[in-house]
Amino acid sequence: MIKTVPVSLNRTIDDSYEISIGAGIFSEKVQGVFSTLKPTRVAIVTDTHLYKIYRDTLNVTFGNDARIIVYPAGESKKNFRTINGMFGELQEAGLDRKSCIVAFGGGVTGDMAGFLAGIFLRGVRFIQVPTSLLAMVDSSTGGKTGVDTPGGKNLMGVFHQPKSVIIDTDFLRTLPKRELINGMAEVVKHGIIADRDYFTLVEKKRTKIKKLDPDTMIEVISGSCRIKSAVVSADEKEAGLRQTLNFGHTIGHAVEAASDFKIPHGYAVAIGMAAEAYISQKRGYLSGKEFERITRVLKAYGLLKYAALSDKLDAGRIIHASARDKKNVASNVRFVVIPEIGKVREENGVYSFDMKEGELLDALQKVKEF
Ligand SMILES: NC(=O)c1ccc[n+]([C@@H]2O[C@H](COP(=O)([O-])OP(=O)(O)OC[C@H]3O[C@@H](n4cnc5c(N)ncnc54)[C@H](O)[C@@H]3O)[C@@H](O)[C@H]2O)c1
Ligand SMILES: [Zn+2]
Repeated sequence: MIKTVPVSLNRTIDDSYEISIGAGIFSEKVQGVFSTLKPTRVAIVTDTHLYKIYRDTLNVTFGNDARIIVYPAGESKKNFRTINGMFGELQEAGLDRKSCIVAFGGGVTGDMAGFLAGIFLRGVRFIQVPTSLLAMVDSSTGGKTGVDTPGGKNLMGVFHQPKSVIIDTDFLRTLPKRELINGMAEVVKHGIIADRDYFTLVEKKRTKIKKLDPDTMIEVISGSCRIKSAVVSADEKEAGLRQTLNFGHTIGHAVEAASDFKIPHGYAVAIGMAAEAYISQKRGYLSGKEFERITRVLKAYGLLKYAALSDKLDAGRIIHASARDKKNVASNVRFVVIPEIGKVREENGVYSFDMKEGELLDALQKVKEF
């Protein structure tokens, strides 16, 4: 005999949240968000670099009752062992289901604090306070959280949306220059895949961006957040449109891995964007003029600094790494095709297309010229 019992879980969840962007808004915005959330307890996750610089700021803003959890800065600590340690600290600090976790730092902090919030007591609320440009324009929006495993990057994780994202451009003043440039890769990417005017803005305002002019940074960061949030709202779980955010990342991830992660993510993605744009051109979708405009901007921001190195990397390793990328379904190497700046190629709801090995090698040869 077989009996079936239906478990009806058809529900509507509203996970909407706001991203606030401004200069010097941190403390006031935190107070505002907490007056709505009314958390019982608060834990802040941050890394050693940030703790050293912002310890007083954190104490003043969150008060003595908040627990500050500090982990040693760096991607190598983005793993389950660190999460396990943090878990113990949350219990020790007496956090309950009505508590709130604050991610204060770059993308590594955001991914770990969000993951921790997603699994602690089966999920507690968290807010993102991104402090690196990459975290401001990319990782803090979208709800992807997680850690690396020996098998690869970001393989363990959950989707868990923050309750609020607070972006204070003043934090960028202490960010190392290299990290600023690193974040610019995703900014340029957003222009290429979604918004021609935004690309032009990024192209024109280089001097002001490099000087961290507050109003320019607010404009640039809010533009990127608008583009990313539009994509994520349309496709939260990466079924279609969200793949476009992966532009430059197929080759970029492979270059990053083949360099044993010596080439930082943004710089590797820039190489990837130049290479994937080149393949788009070779296939007859992108004009030579548009391709040049893309590479000119990447170069102007210093993002193609490692391009010459791509020739010294083992091509076999690059191919192997791109085929293993978890976003490549069934081992086919797929990538986003750009027909013109601000647009992506779409065919029946599909936004990524097979890349041939020869095309990949050819593109890497081309990129080393930059
Ligand atoms: N969840 C997502 O959707 C998503 C998207 C893109 C990237 N990511 C993840 O983000 C991570 C990379 O982020 P990241 O580049 O910000 O790395 P990170 O968090 O390690 O920060 C980079 C460095 O900058 C320092 N730093 C950050 N803000 C600072 C500030 N204001 N002043 C001084 N120093 C500061 C950090 O201490 C660190 O040394 C990767 O793990 C990646 O997988 C996630
Ligand atoms: Zn990226």
